[in-house]
Amino acid sequence: SWTPEHFVDSMVLTLQNTIGPDDQVILGLSGGVDSSVAALLLHRAIGPRLHGIFVDNGLLRKDEYEGVLESYKELGLNVRGVNASQEFYAALAGHTDPEKKRKAIGRTFIEVFDREAHKVDGANWLAQGTIYPDVIESVSVKGPAVTIKSHHNVGGLPELMNLKVVEPLRALFKDEVREVGDALGLPHNILHRHPFPGPGLAIRILGEVTPERVQILQRADAIFIDGLREFDLYNEVWQAGVMLLPIHSVGVMGDERTYEQVVALRAVTSVDGMTADWAHLPYQFLAHISNKIINQVRGINRVVYDISSKPPATIEWE
Ligand code: XMP
Repeated sequence: SWTPEHFVDSMVLTLQNTIGPDDQVILGLSGGVDSSVAALLLHRAIGPRLHGIFVDNGLLRKDEYEGVLESYKELGLNVRGVNASQEFYAALAGHTDPEKKRKAIGRTFIEVFDREAHKVDGANWLAQGTIYPDVIESVSVKGPAVTIKSHHNVGGLPELMNLKVVEPLRALFKDEVREVGDALGLPHNILHRHPFPGPGLAIRILGEVTPERVQILQRADAIFIDGLREFDLYNEVWQAGVMLLPIHSVGVMGDERTYEQVVALRAVTSVDGMTADWAHLPYQFLAHISNKIINQVRGINRVVYDISSKPPATIEWE
């Protein structure tokens, strides 16, 4: 029967037999479960000949880049952190259309990654954390079906750099990937992290992305996510985040009239993200988060809770 330990042992052998003794492998790390588990497997198979590249696109959660990079180093991974925030902000400037934003981010990621990958002497393999559901999804995205949202997790780089592709998690479902990660010692905070979209906070800032807006959203988001953990609700929801809306509304503070931005809290229960129900979070918790955000995050004077299910709404607002 399938056990994560057997999988690790046999995949390590397969990787050692596939990847030549002088070959060098590059892998883009995102801080998510899949790429992290792929990295640990490859690290076990080929050690420092796995070259991880972790790009800060300036669109991650508050303090996420530093925290995750630290975890990778503690795991002994050979990882290079690349702060490319300004490049991403420059590429996003002036864009308000969600798909244009995704494309600008995808393009910039490829530029940055390509540049960093060329710094690795003799790199001839690209590893990817593709899991079985991604394989199915990318087939349907490329098929005749209408693309609702383009995803940038699959494709692009290998053709560009003439690399062979290795995808050690290609046959696994998410729960199996988590078991394998656990067997490899991946820390709990990465192992049980909510899914987070590749384009990051950019698709949670409706309208144009600016560094100032990212900062406002990061603060509100951190209050929501930390609150979920504090109230033991984090594992009750499948995904959660905050959307920064492109509207202002009137409020009062003391005897001053304010005219500031609105955020929407989004939390859903789901099995695979294909369908989702809005999470019935306790009113007391919502009240606590709302107060905290309005009191602590400059520029926000109103918090609303999204009570739409998917379909017909999507989880993200863009
Ligand atoms: P939606 O909004 O389509 O989201 O209901 C379903 C799941 O996919 C994530 N998502 C993305 N992930 N690139 C990604 O890597 C994207 O462009 C993207 N758009 C949505 C979303 O966070 C949710 O988990």
